[in-house]
Amino acid sequence: MQKLEQLYEGKAKKVFATDDPELLIVDYKDDATAFNGLKKGTILGKGAINNRMSNFLMTLLEKEGVPTHFVKELSDRETLVKKVQIVPLEVIIRNIAAGSFTKRYGVAEGTVFDAPTIEFSYKNDDLGDPLINTYHALAMHLASIEEIELIESYAFRVNDALRAFWAKRGVTLVDFKLEFGRLSDGTIVLADEISPDTCRLWDSATGKKLDKDRFRQDLGGVEEAYSEIMHRLDEND
Ligand code: TMP
Ligand code: ASP
Repeated sequence: MQKLEQLYEGKAKKVFATDDPELLIVDYKDDATAFNGLKKGTILGKGAINNRMSNFLMTLLEKEGVPTHFVKELSDRETLVKKVQIVPLEVIIRNIAAGSFTKRYGVAEGTVFDAPTIEFSYKNDDLGDPLINTYHALAMHLASIEEIELIESYAFRVNDALRAFWAKRGVTLVDFKLEFGRLSDGTIVLADEISPDTCRLWDSATGKKLDKDRFRQDLGGVEEAYSEIMHRLDEND
């Protein structure tokens, strides 16, 4: 597989063309941003950790019946993925109140929900990824109703699988963000990444935050938290 020209550079990844029009190479960076790019920094080793974690979890999710863009890990930081057209919706599942939920609704951080919640943001940096509902998404033709229903059912399946996976490793899955894409034939697959950048992961015993909130909130020990959570992932059941 030949790595060709760079097609796109995002906040945390670069994307390259390959000699196969249906496949791309994703290259994970150590760059970190928060608050829609207002806060910038570097988390040493993050790119390699996010690459490995995302690939591991997507492989697990495929076995649980959630199709993904993952094809093959190529190196520490590079992965071969299926080319998709991203559905411009950030799909957020929450098990426990944290982050924007606590700010928006005045609910105390750590409040455990009776059942997981789902919400969508319109993926648009210029607008600051505003919260939207299904009717808004349909009005803007971001996805069809069939696609939205499928995405919702995949997102809850991801939650069940990842919650159980992390619980066995002494980690509580608080919330996470997913992105989905369409293959050239229209099939919906899970895309982007699943990593400490896109999930809140708390140590179940101590409540210690083992994710990007350490960077967002200037809590210190950012690199240590990323290597600690990667360590937990590598633990056997
Ligand atoms: P929030 O509480 O800030 O809305 O974040 C919910 C989840 O989504 C949390 O696990 C972090 C993740 N997230 C992203 O992956 N990208 C983003 O741009 C934002 C704002 C949140
Ligand atoms: N990655 C996002 C940004 O820079 C935000 C975040 O993860 O908090 O805007």
